Amino acid sequence: MISDEMSDYDRDFDVRSYIKLSYGDPHVSSANFKKELRDFVLENVHEFYAERAPTLRSNSARILEFGGGPIIVYLISAVPYASSIVFSDYSSSCRKAVREWINDGPDAYDWHPYFDYVIKTFENDESAETPLNRAKEMKSKISSIIHCDVAMENPIGKGYEKSFDVISVSFCFESACKSVEDVEETLKKLATLLRPGGWIRINGVLGGSYYTVNDKRFFNVTQTKESVRNALAKAGFASIDVKAHVSDCPAHADYLGMYHASAQLSDRT
Ligand SMILES: C[S@@+](CC[C@H](N)C(=O)[O-])C[C@H]1O[C@@H](n2cnc3c(N)ncnc32)[C@H](O)[C@@H]1O
Repeated sequence: MISDEMSDYDRDFDVRSYIKLSYGDPHVSSANFKKELRDFVLENVHEFYAERAPTLRSNSARILEFGGGPIIVYLISAVPYASSIVFSDYSSSCRKAVREWINDGPDAYDWHPYFDYVIKTFENDESAETPLNRAKEMKSKISSIIHCDVAMENPIGKGYEKSFDVISVSFCFESACKSVEDVEETLKKLATLLRPGGWIRINGVLGGSYYTVNDKRFFNVTQTKESVRNALAKAGFASIDVKAHVSDCPAHADYLGMYHASAQLSDRT
């Protein structure tokens, strides 16, 4: 039975179930994530690195994945542009899962189908080696896996001011923040971690108040295209682009669709 009580990510989040229910085989919909929506997000992530952020050069971007959970798929398109990647999440079990994958541990999840799918579908590269090499490159470029918390004054700890060229956020704000005002405050804090002229890209759900993993219910801040745009503008970002894909959601949640947003900090920050 699904409890009405909202769950905590460090206590209640079952990493394996989350991956299975939301990711699974990239060629088909999974119980919690329709293929059409997953493709919308993955295509926009690809376009962000390939076209939207033209100031990013090969192997030069210092990237922060914020609230990445146990999921590395939104970094596949980023790797050729990255010099280093700091991966962060709130939950220790998520951080452990990513560490396990990097170390090729016995419990590592096999992300190869996603490397293969993203590279074939969005980069039109049919080579069997590219996905294997991309995974190796990602593993070598992830320089640290650290704790993050939107509630902290320094959400990834001290010493990272103006340290990143790109911050990447996937389905985190709706889970971690308590309100749209809280999303705005979080964006202001994350902006301090970007160098002047740096970029942020975010994907998340539109609408919605909860989602479930097995019998656990997780809170969801209700966001709209406008609330995302306003929060980015109030946090000092410009060149804001927000794309939405409306679609009926599976039974596990009550969202209305998904968005992908990107924006740039002023050069004079
Ligand atoms: C829905 S999951 C998204 C995971 C992954 N980024 C993805 O795209 O599938 C929400 C993530 O937010 C993280 N989270 C929860 N509370 C947080 C907080 N206070 N600060 C930062 N992240 C938090 C969770 O640990 C979890 O990994």
